[in-house]
Amino acid sequence: MEIMNTAVIGAGTMGNGIAHIMAQAGYKVTLIDIKQEFLDRALATIEKNLNRQLKKERITEEQMKSTLANITVTISIEDVSNADFAVEAATENINLKSEIFKKLDVICREGVIFGTNTSSISITEIAAVTKRPDKVIGMHFMNPVPVMQLVEIIKGLATSDETCAITEDFAKALGKTPVLANDYPGFIANRILLPMINEAIFALMEGVGNEEAIDTVMKLGMNHPMGPLTLADFIGLDVCLSILEVLHDGLGDPKYRPCPLLRKMVAAGHLGRKTGKGFYNYGC
Ligand code: CAA
Repeated sequence: MEIMNTAVIGAGTMGNGIAHIMAQAGYKVTLIDIKQEFLDRALATIEKNLNRQLKKERITEEQMKSTLANITVTISIEDVSNADFAVEAATENINLKSEIFKKLDVICREGVIFGTNTSSISITEIAAVTKRPDKVIGMHFMNPVPVMQLVEIIKGLATSDETCAITEDFAKALGKTPVLANDYPGFIANRILLPMINEAIFALMEGVGNEEAIDTVMKLGMNHPMGPLTLADFIGLDVCLSILEVLHDGLGDPKYRPCPLLRKMVAAGHLGRKTGKGFYNYGC
C-alpha cells in the first residue's frame, strides 16, 4: 500500500515533531489529541520551528506554507480512518496506549501499519491488544524530532519482516536514519542513555561534582552536545524515572536502580524544563 495519508495520535512534544517532519516530507497528516487546546499548542510549536528553519534558510516560504497545509488537526480519533500509516505518540502509559491501539485496530483499514513512539514500553505487549500484531512496530524518534537524525525501529515478537521493511523505508522518506532493534526493555537508545544519566545523578548525589562540573566534563571531555543533567531536564525527570523503572523491572538487574535523588526530585514535582525546575532553573 502506498503511503500518502498519515496520522499521528498525541500532539505533545514528540507528536508535533513527528507531524512536522511527515508534513514537511509531503505526506498529508491528521494530528489527533483529546483537547483542541493541545492541538492549538502543537500547531503553534510547529509554526515556530518552521519559522526557525525558514530564518536559517533551511526551507523556503513556499515549503513552510505547504508543510502547514498538509496538517489537519482533530479531536476525533475516528478521523484516523483514511490513514495509510499511523504513529502513536501519546503519554507513556500502557493502559492508555492499549485503549488507543484497540480503537485504531477497529477504525483503520486492514493492512495499515501502526507505529508507536514509545520510549520503553514493550512493543510485543502493545501489539498483543490488536488483531494485527504483525503490523505493530516501534518507531522511536528522538527529541527534538526535526533535528535528530535517528529513528529506532523496534521489532516486536510478532512484527513481520515486511512491516519492518516498509517502516524503514518510511523513516528514510522522512529524511531519517532508521536503526533496527529487538524488543527488550529500553531497546538500544535508552538501555545505554539512561544508565549514563542515572550515574550522573548518583555522582551529583554523592558530591563527586556539582551540576556544572558533571555536565562540563561530558560536554568538553566527550563532545556530548548537552551534559547528562541538562539532557535529563530536557527529556523530563519523570520520563527518565519511568524508563529506569522499566529497565530495572524488565531486566531485574540492580545496576538499573533509579538514583534516590531522581526519585526525590520527581516527588517534589521538579521535572526539568517543562516545570521550570530540575537540576537547573529555567525561570518560568
Ligand atoms: N525544531 C526545529 N529545529 C530545531 C529545534 C526544534 N525543536 N531545536 C533546535 N533546532 C535546530 C536549530 O535551528 C539549529 O539548526 P541549524 O543547525 O540548522 O542552525 C540546530 O537545531 C541547533 O540548535 P541551536 O543552535 O539552537 O542549539 P544547539 O546547538 O544547542 O542544539 C540541540 C540544540 C539540537 C537540542 C542539541 O543540544 C542536542 O543535540 N542535544 C541533545 C539532544 C538529545 O540527546 N536528544 C535525544 C534525547 S533522548 C530521546 O529523545 C529519547 C527518549 O526516549 C528519552
